[in-house]
Amino acid sequence: MISAYICRKKNMQIVAKTFFGFEDLLEEELKALGAKNIEKGNRMVKYEGNKELLYRSNIWLRTAISVLMPIETFQFRDEDDLKKKLSYIKYSTYFSVTKSFAVKGAVNSKEFNHSQYPLLLLKDAIADHFRDSFNKRPDVDKSKPNVVFDLHIQDNECTVSLNSSGAPLFQRGYRKSVGEAPLNEIVAAALIMRSGWDRNSDLIDPFCGSGTIPIEAALMANDLPPMIERKNFGFKHWKDYDVNLFEALQDEIPRKPKAGLKFKIIGSDTDTQMILNSRENSRMLPVDNILKFEAKDFKDQEAPSDKGVLICNPPYGERLEIEALEEFYGEIGTFFKHKMGGFDCWIISSSTDGLKSVGLKPAKKIRVYNGDLECDFRKYEIFPGSLKEHKTRITEPRGRRPKTKK
Ligand SMILES: C[S@@+](CC[C@H](N)C(=O)[O-])C[C@H]1O[C@@H](n2cnc3c(N)ncnc32)[C@H](O)[C@@H]1O
Repeated sequence: MISAYICRKKNMQIVAKTFFGFEDLLEEELKALGAKNIEKGNRMVKYEGNKELLYRSNIWLRTAISVLMPIETFQFRDEDDLKKKLSYIKYSTYFSVTKSFAVKGAVNSKEFNHSQYPLLLLKDAIADHFRDSFNKRPDVDKSKPNVVFDLHIQDNECTVSLNSSGAPLFQRGYRKSVGEAPLNEIVAAALIMRSGWDRNSDLIDPFCGSGTIPIEAALMANDLPPMIERKNFGFKHWKDYDVNLFEALQDEIPRKPKAGLKFKIIGSDTDTQMILNSRENSRMLPVDNILKFEAKDFKDQEAPSDKGVLICNPPYGERLEIEALEEFYGEIGTFFKHKMGGFDCWIISSSTDGLKSVGLKPAKKIRVYNGDLECDFRKYEIFPGSLKEHKTRITEPRGRRPKTKK
């Protein structure tokens, strides 16, 4: 339990950033964490909370890229005015000169020909503030900074925030070995949430690569946070870092798999090295109660039961001839139909030709971005048994229905 003293800390504005299309998922996650006054925006969700919620958001949110704490928002007339107003902020309130820093952000304003220029102004304002106050300036470290500032400019409004996450939150800390096209962890978590999987039935990924989808699913099913392995966050380098609070939140995390789970999460891939990578990536996580990885071609995979969810991210076919691509996706469709009876089968792909060749009618289509690639995430509901059996099942009860007396 978090002490009453820590919980009494005052509320502040917090902003969690996400990828296009995941705002509603992030909002749901924030509600579950107890956030107040939640407001959905474009690729972000604003909310109110205290320091405990700020730390908790970093540890528990599956669909956030970063969690920001805005420190100043103001209007500016032009470049000189922006420069002047950035120089008023007392940056040394937030971090000490011994910490390295970096400035990131997004600028969308006619005032600047070069979108990187305002970032430079903020970097100089921070360095000048420290030099004027302490005759010493903190180092800039672009690759592994301790403290990260976020600058957001829209027209003539500027917001300077501290990025409490530091490195993006898709860097979970568990993925050590990856293949050529690993799925972003946030995208994997969002696909699992979108699929409607109940966290209580079989889940299978027959193109698992380095295991991202099965591992994210296993963490969810065990009520474990995505950041169970990650220990480094931006807020740890702030002057007000509360080590007791952070440790109390860490102590809440179960270190053992949940007992009594009756279903399986299976990842398989034809590439044996990928299976070794998946096992390596999940080795330190307490999820071996339900998680299993197997080296096999998708066509040899069997449904573990007669009901569940399949989510897959097959190759998009960049290195395949069109005929081979169509044949490959056609085989995926056949595999769904003949081997996955009773399952909801979801597939994410950027290949329109491939998806067409699956040859089944999708029950749902959702637009998703996998990095820069515009993809479709499609759902195929596979009837249990053969289609003929299914039709018989639907018509039988009607045929047998007793006639009502007139
Ligand atoms: C886009 S990657 C999947 C990446 C994965 N989601 C991850 O996060 O690492 C596609 C995977 O499909 C696998 N694959 C290709 N052909 C296959 C087949 N016939 N059966 C099973 N897996 C196959 C590849 O080895 C590759 O790991």
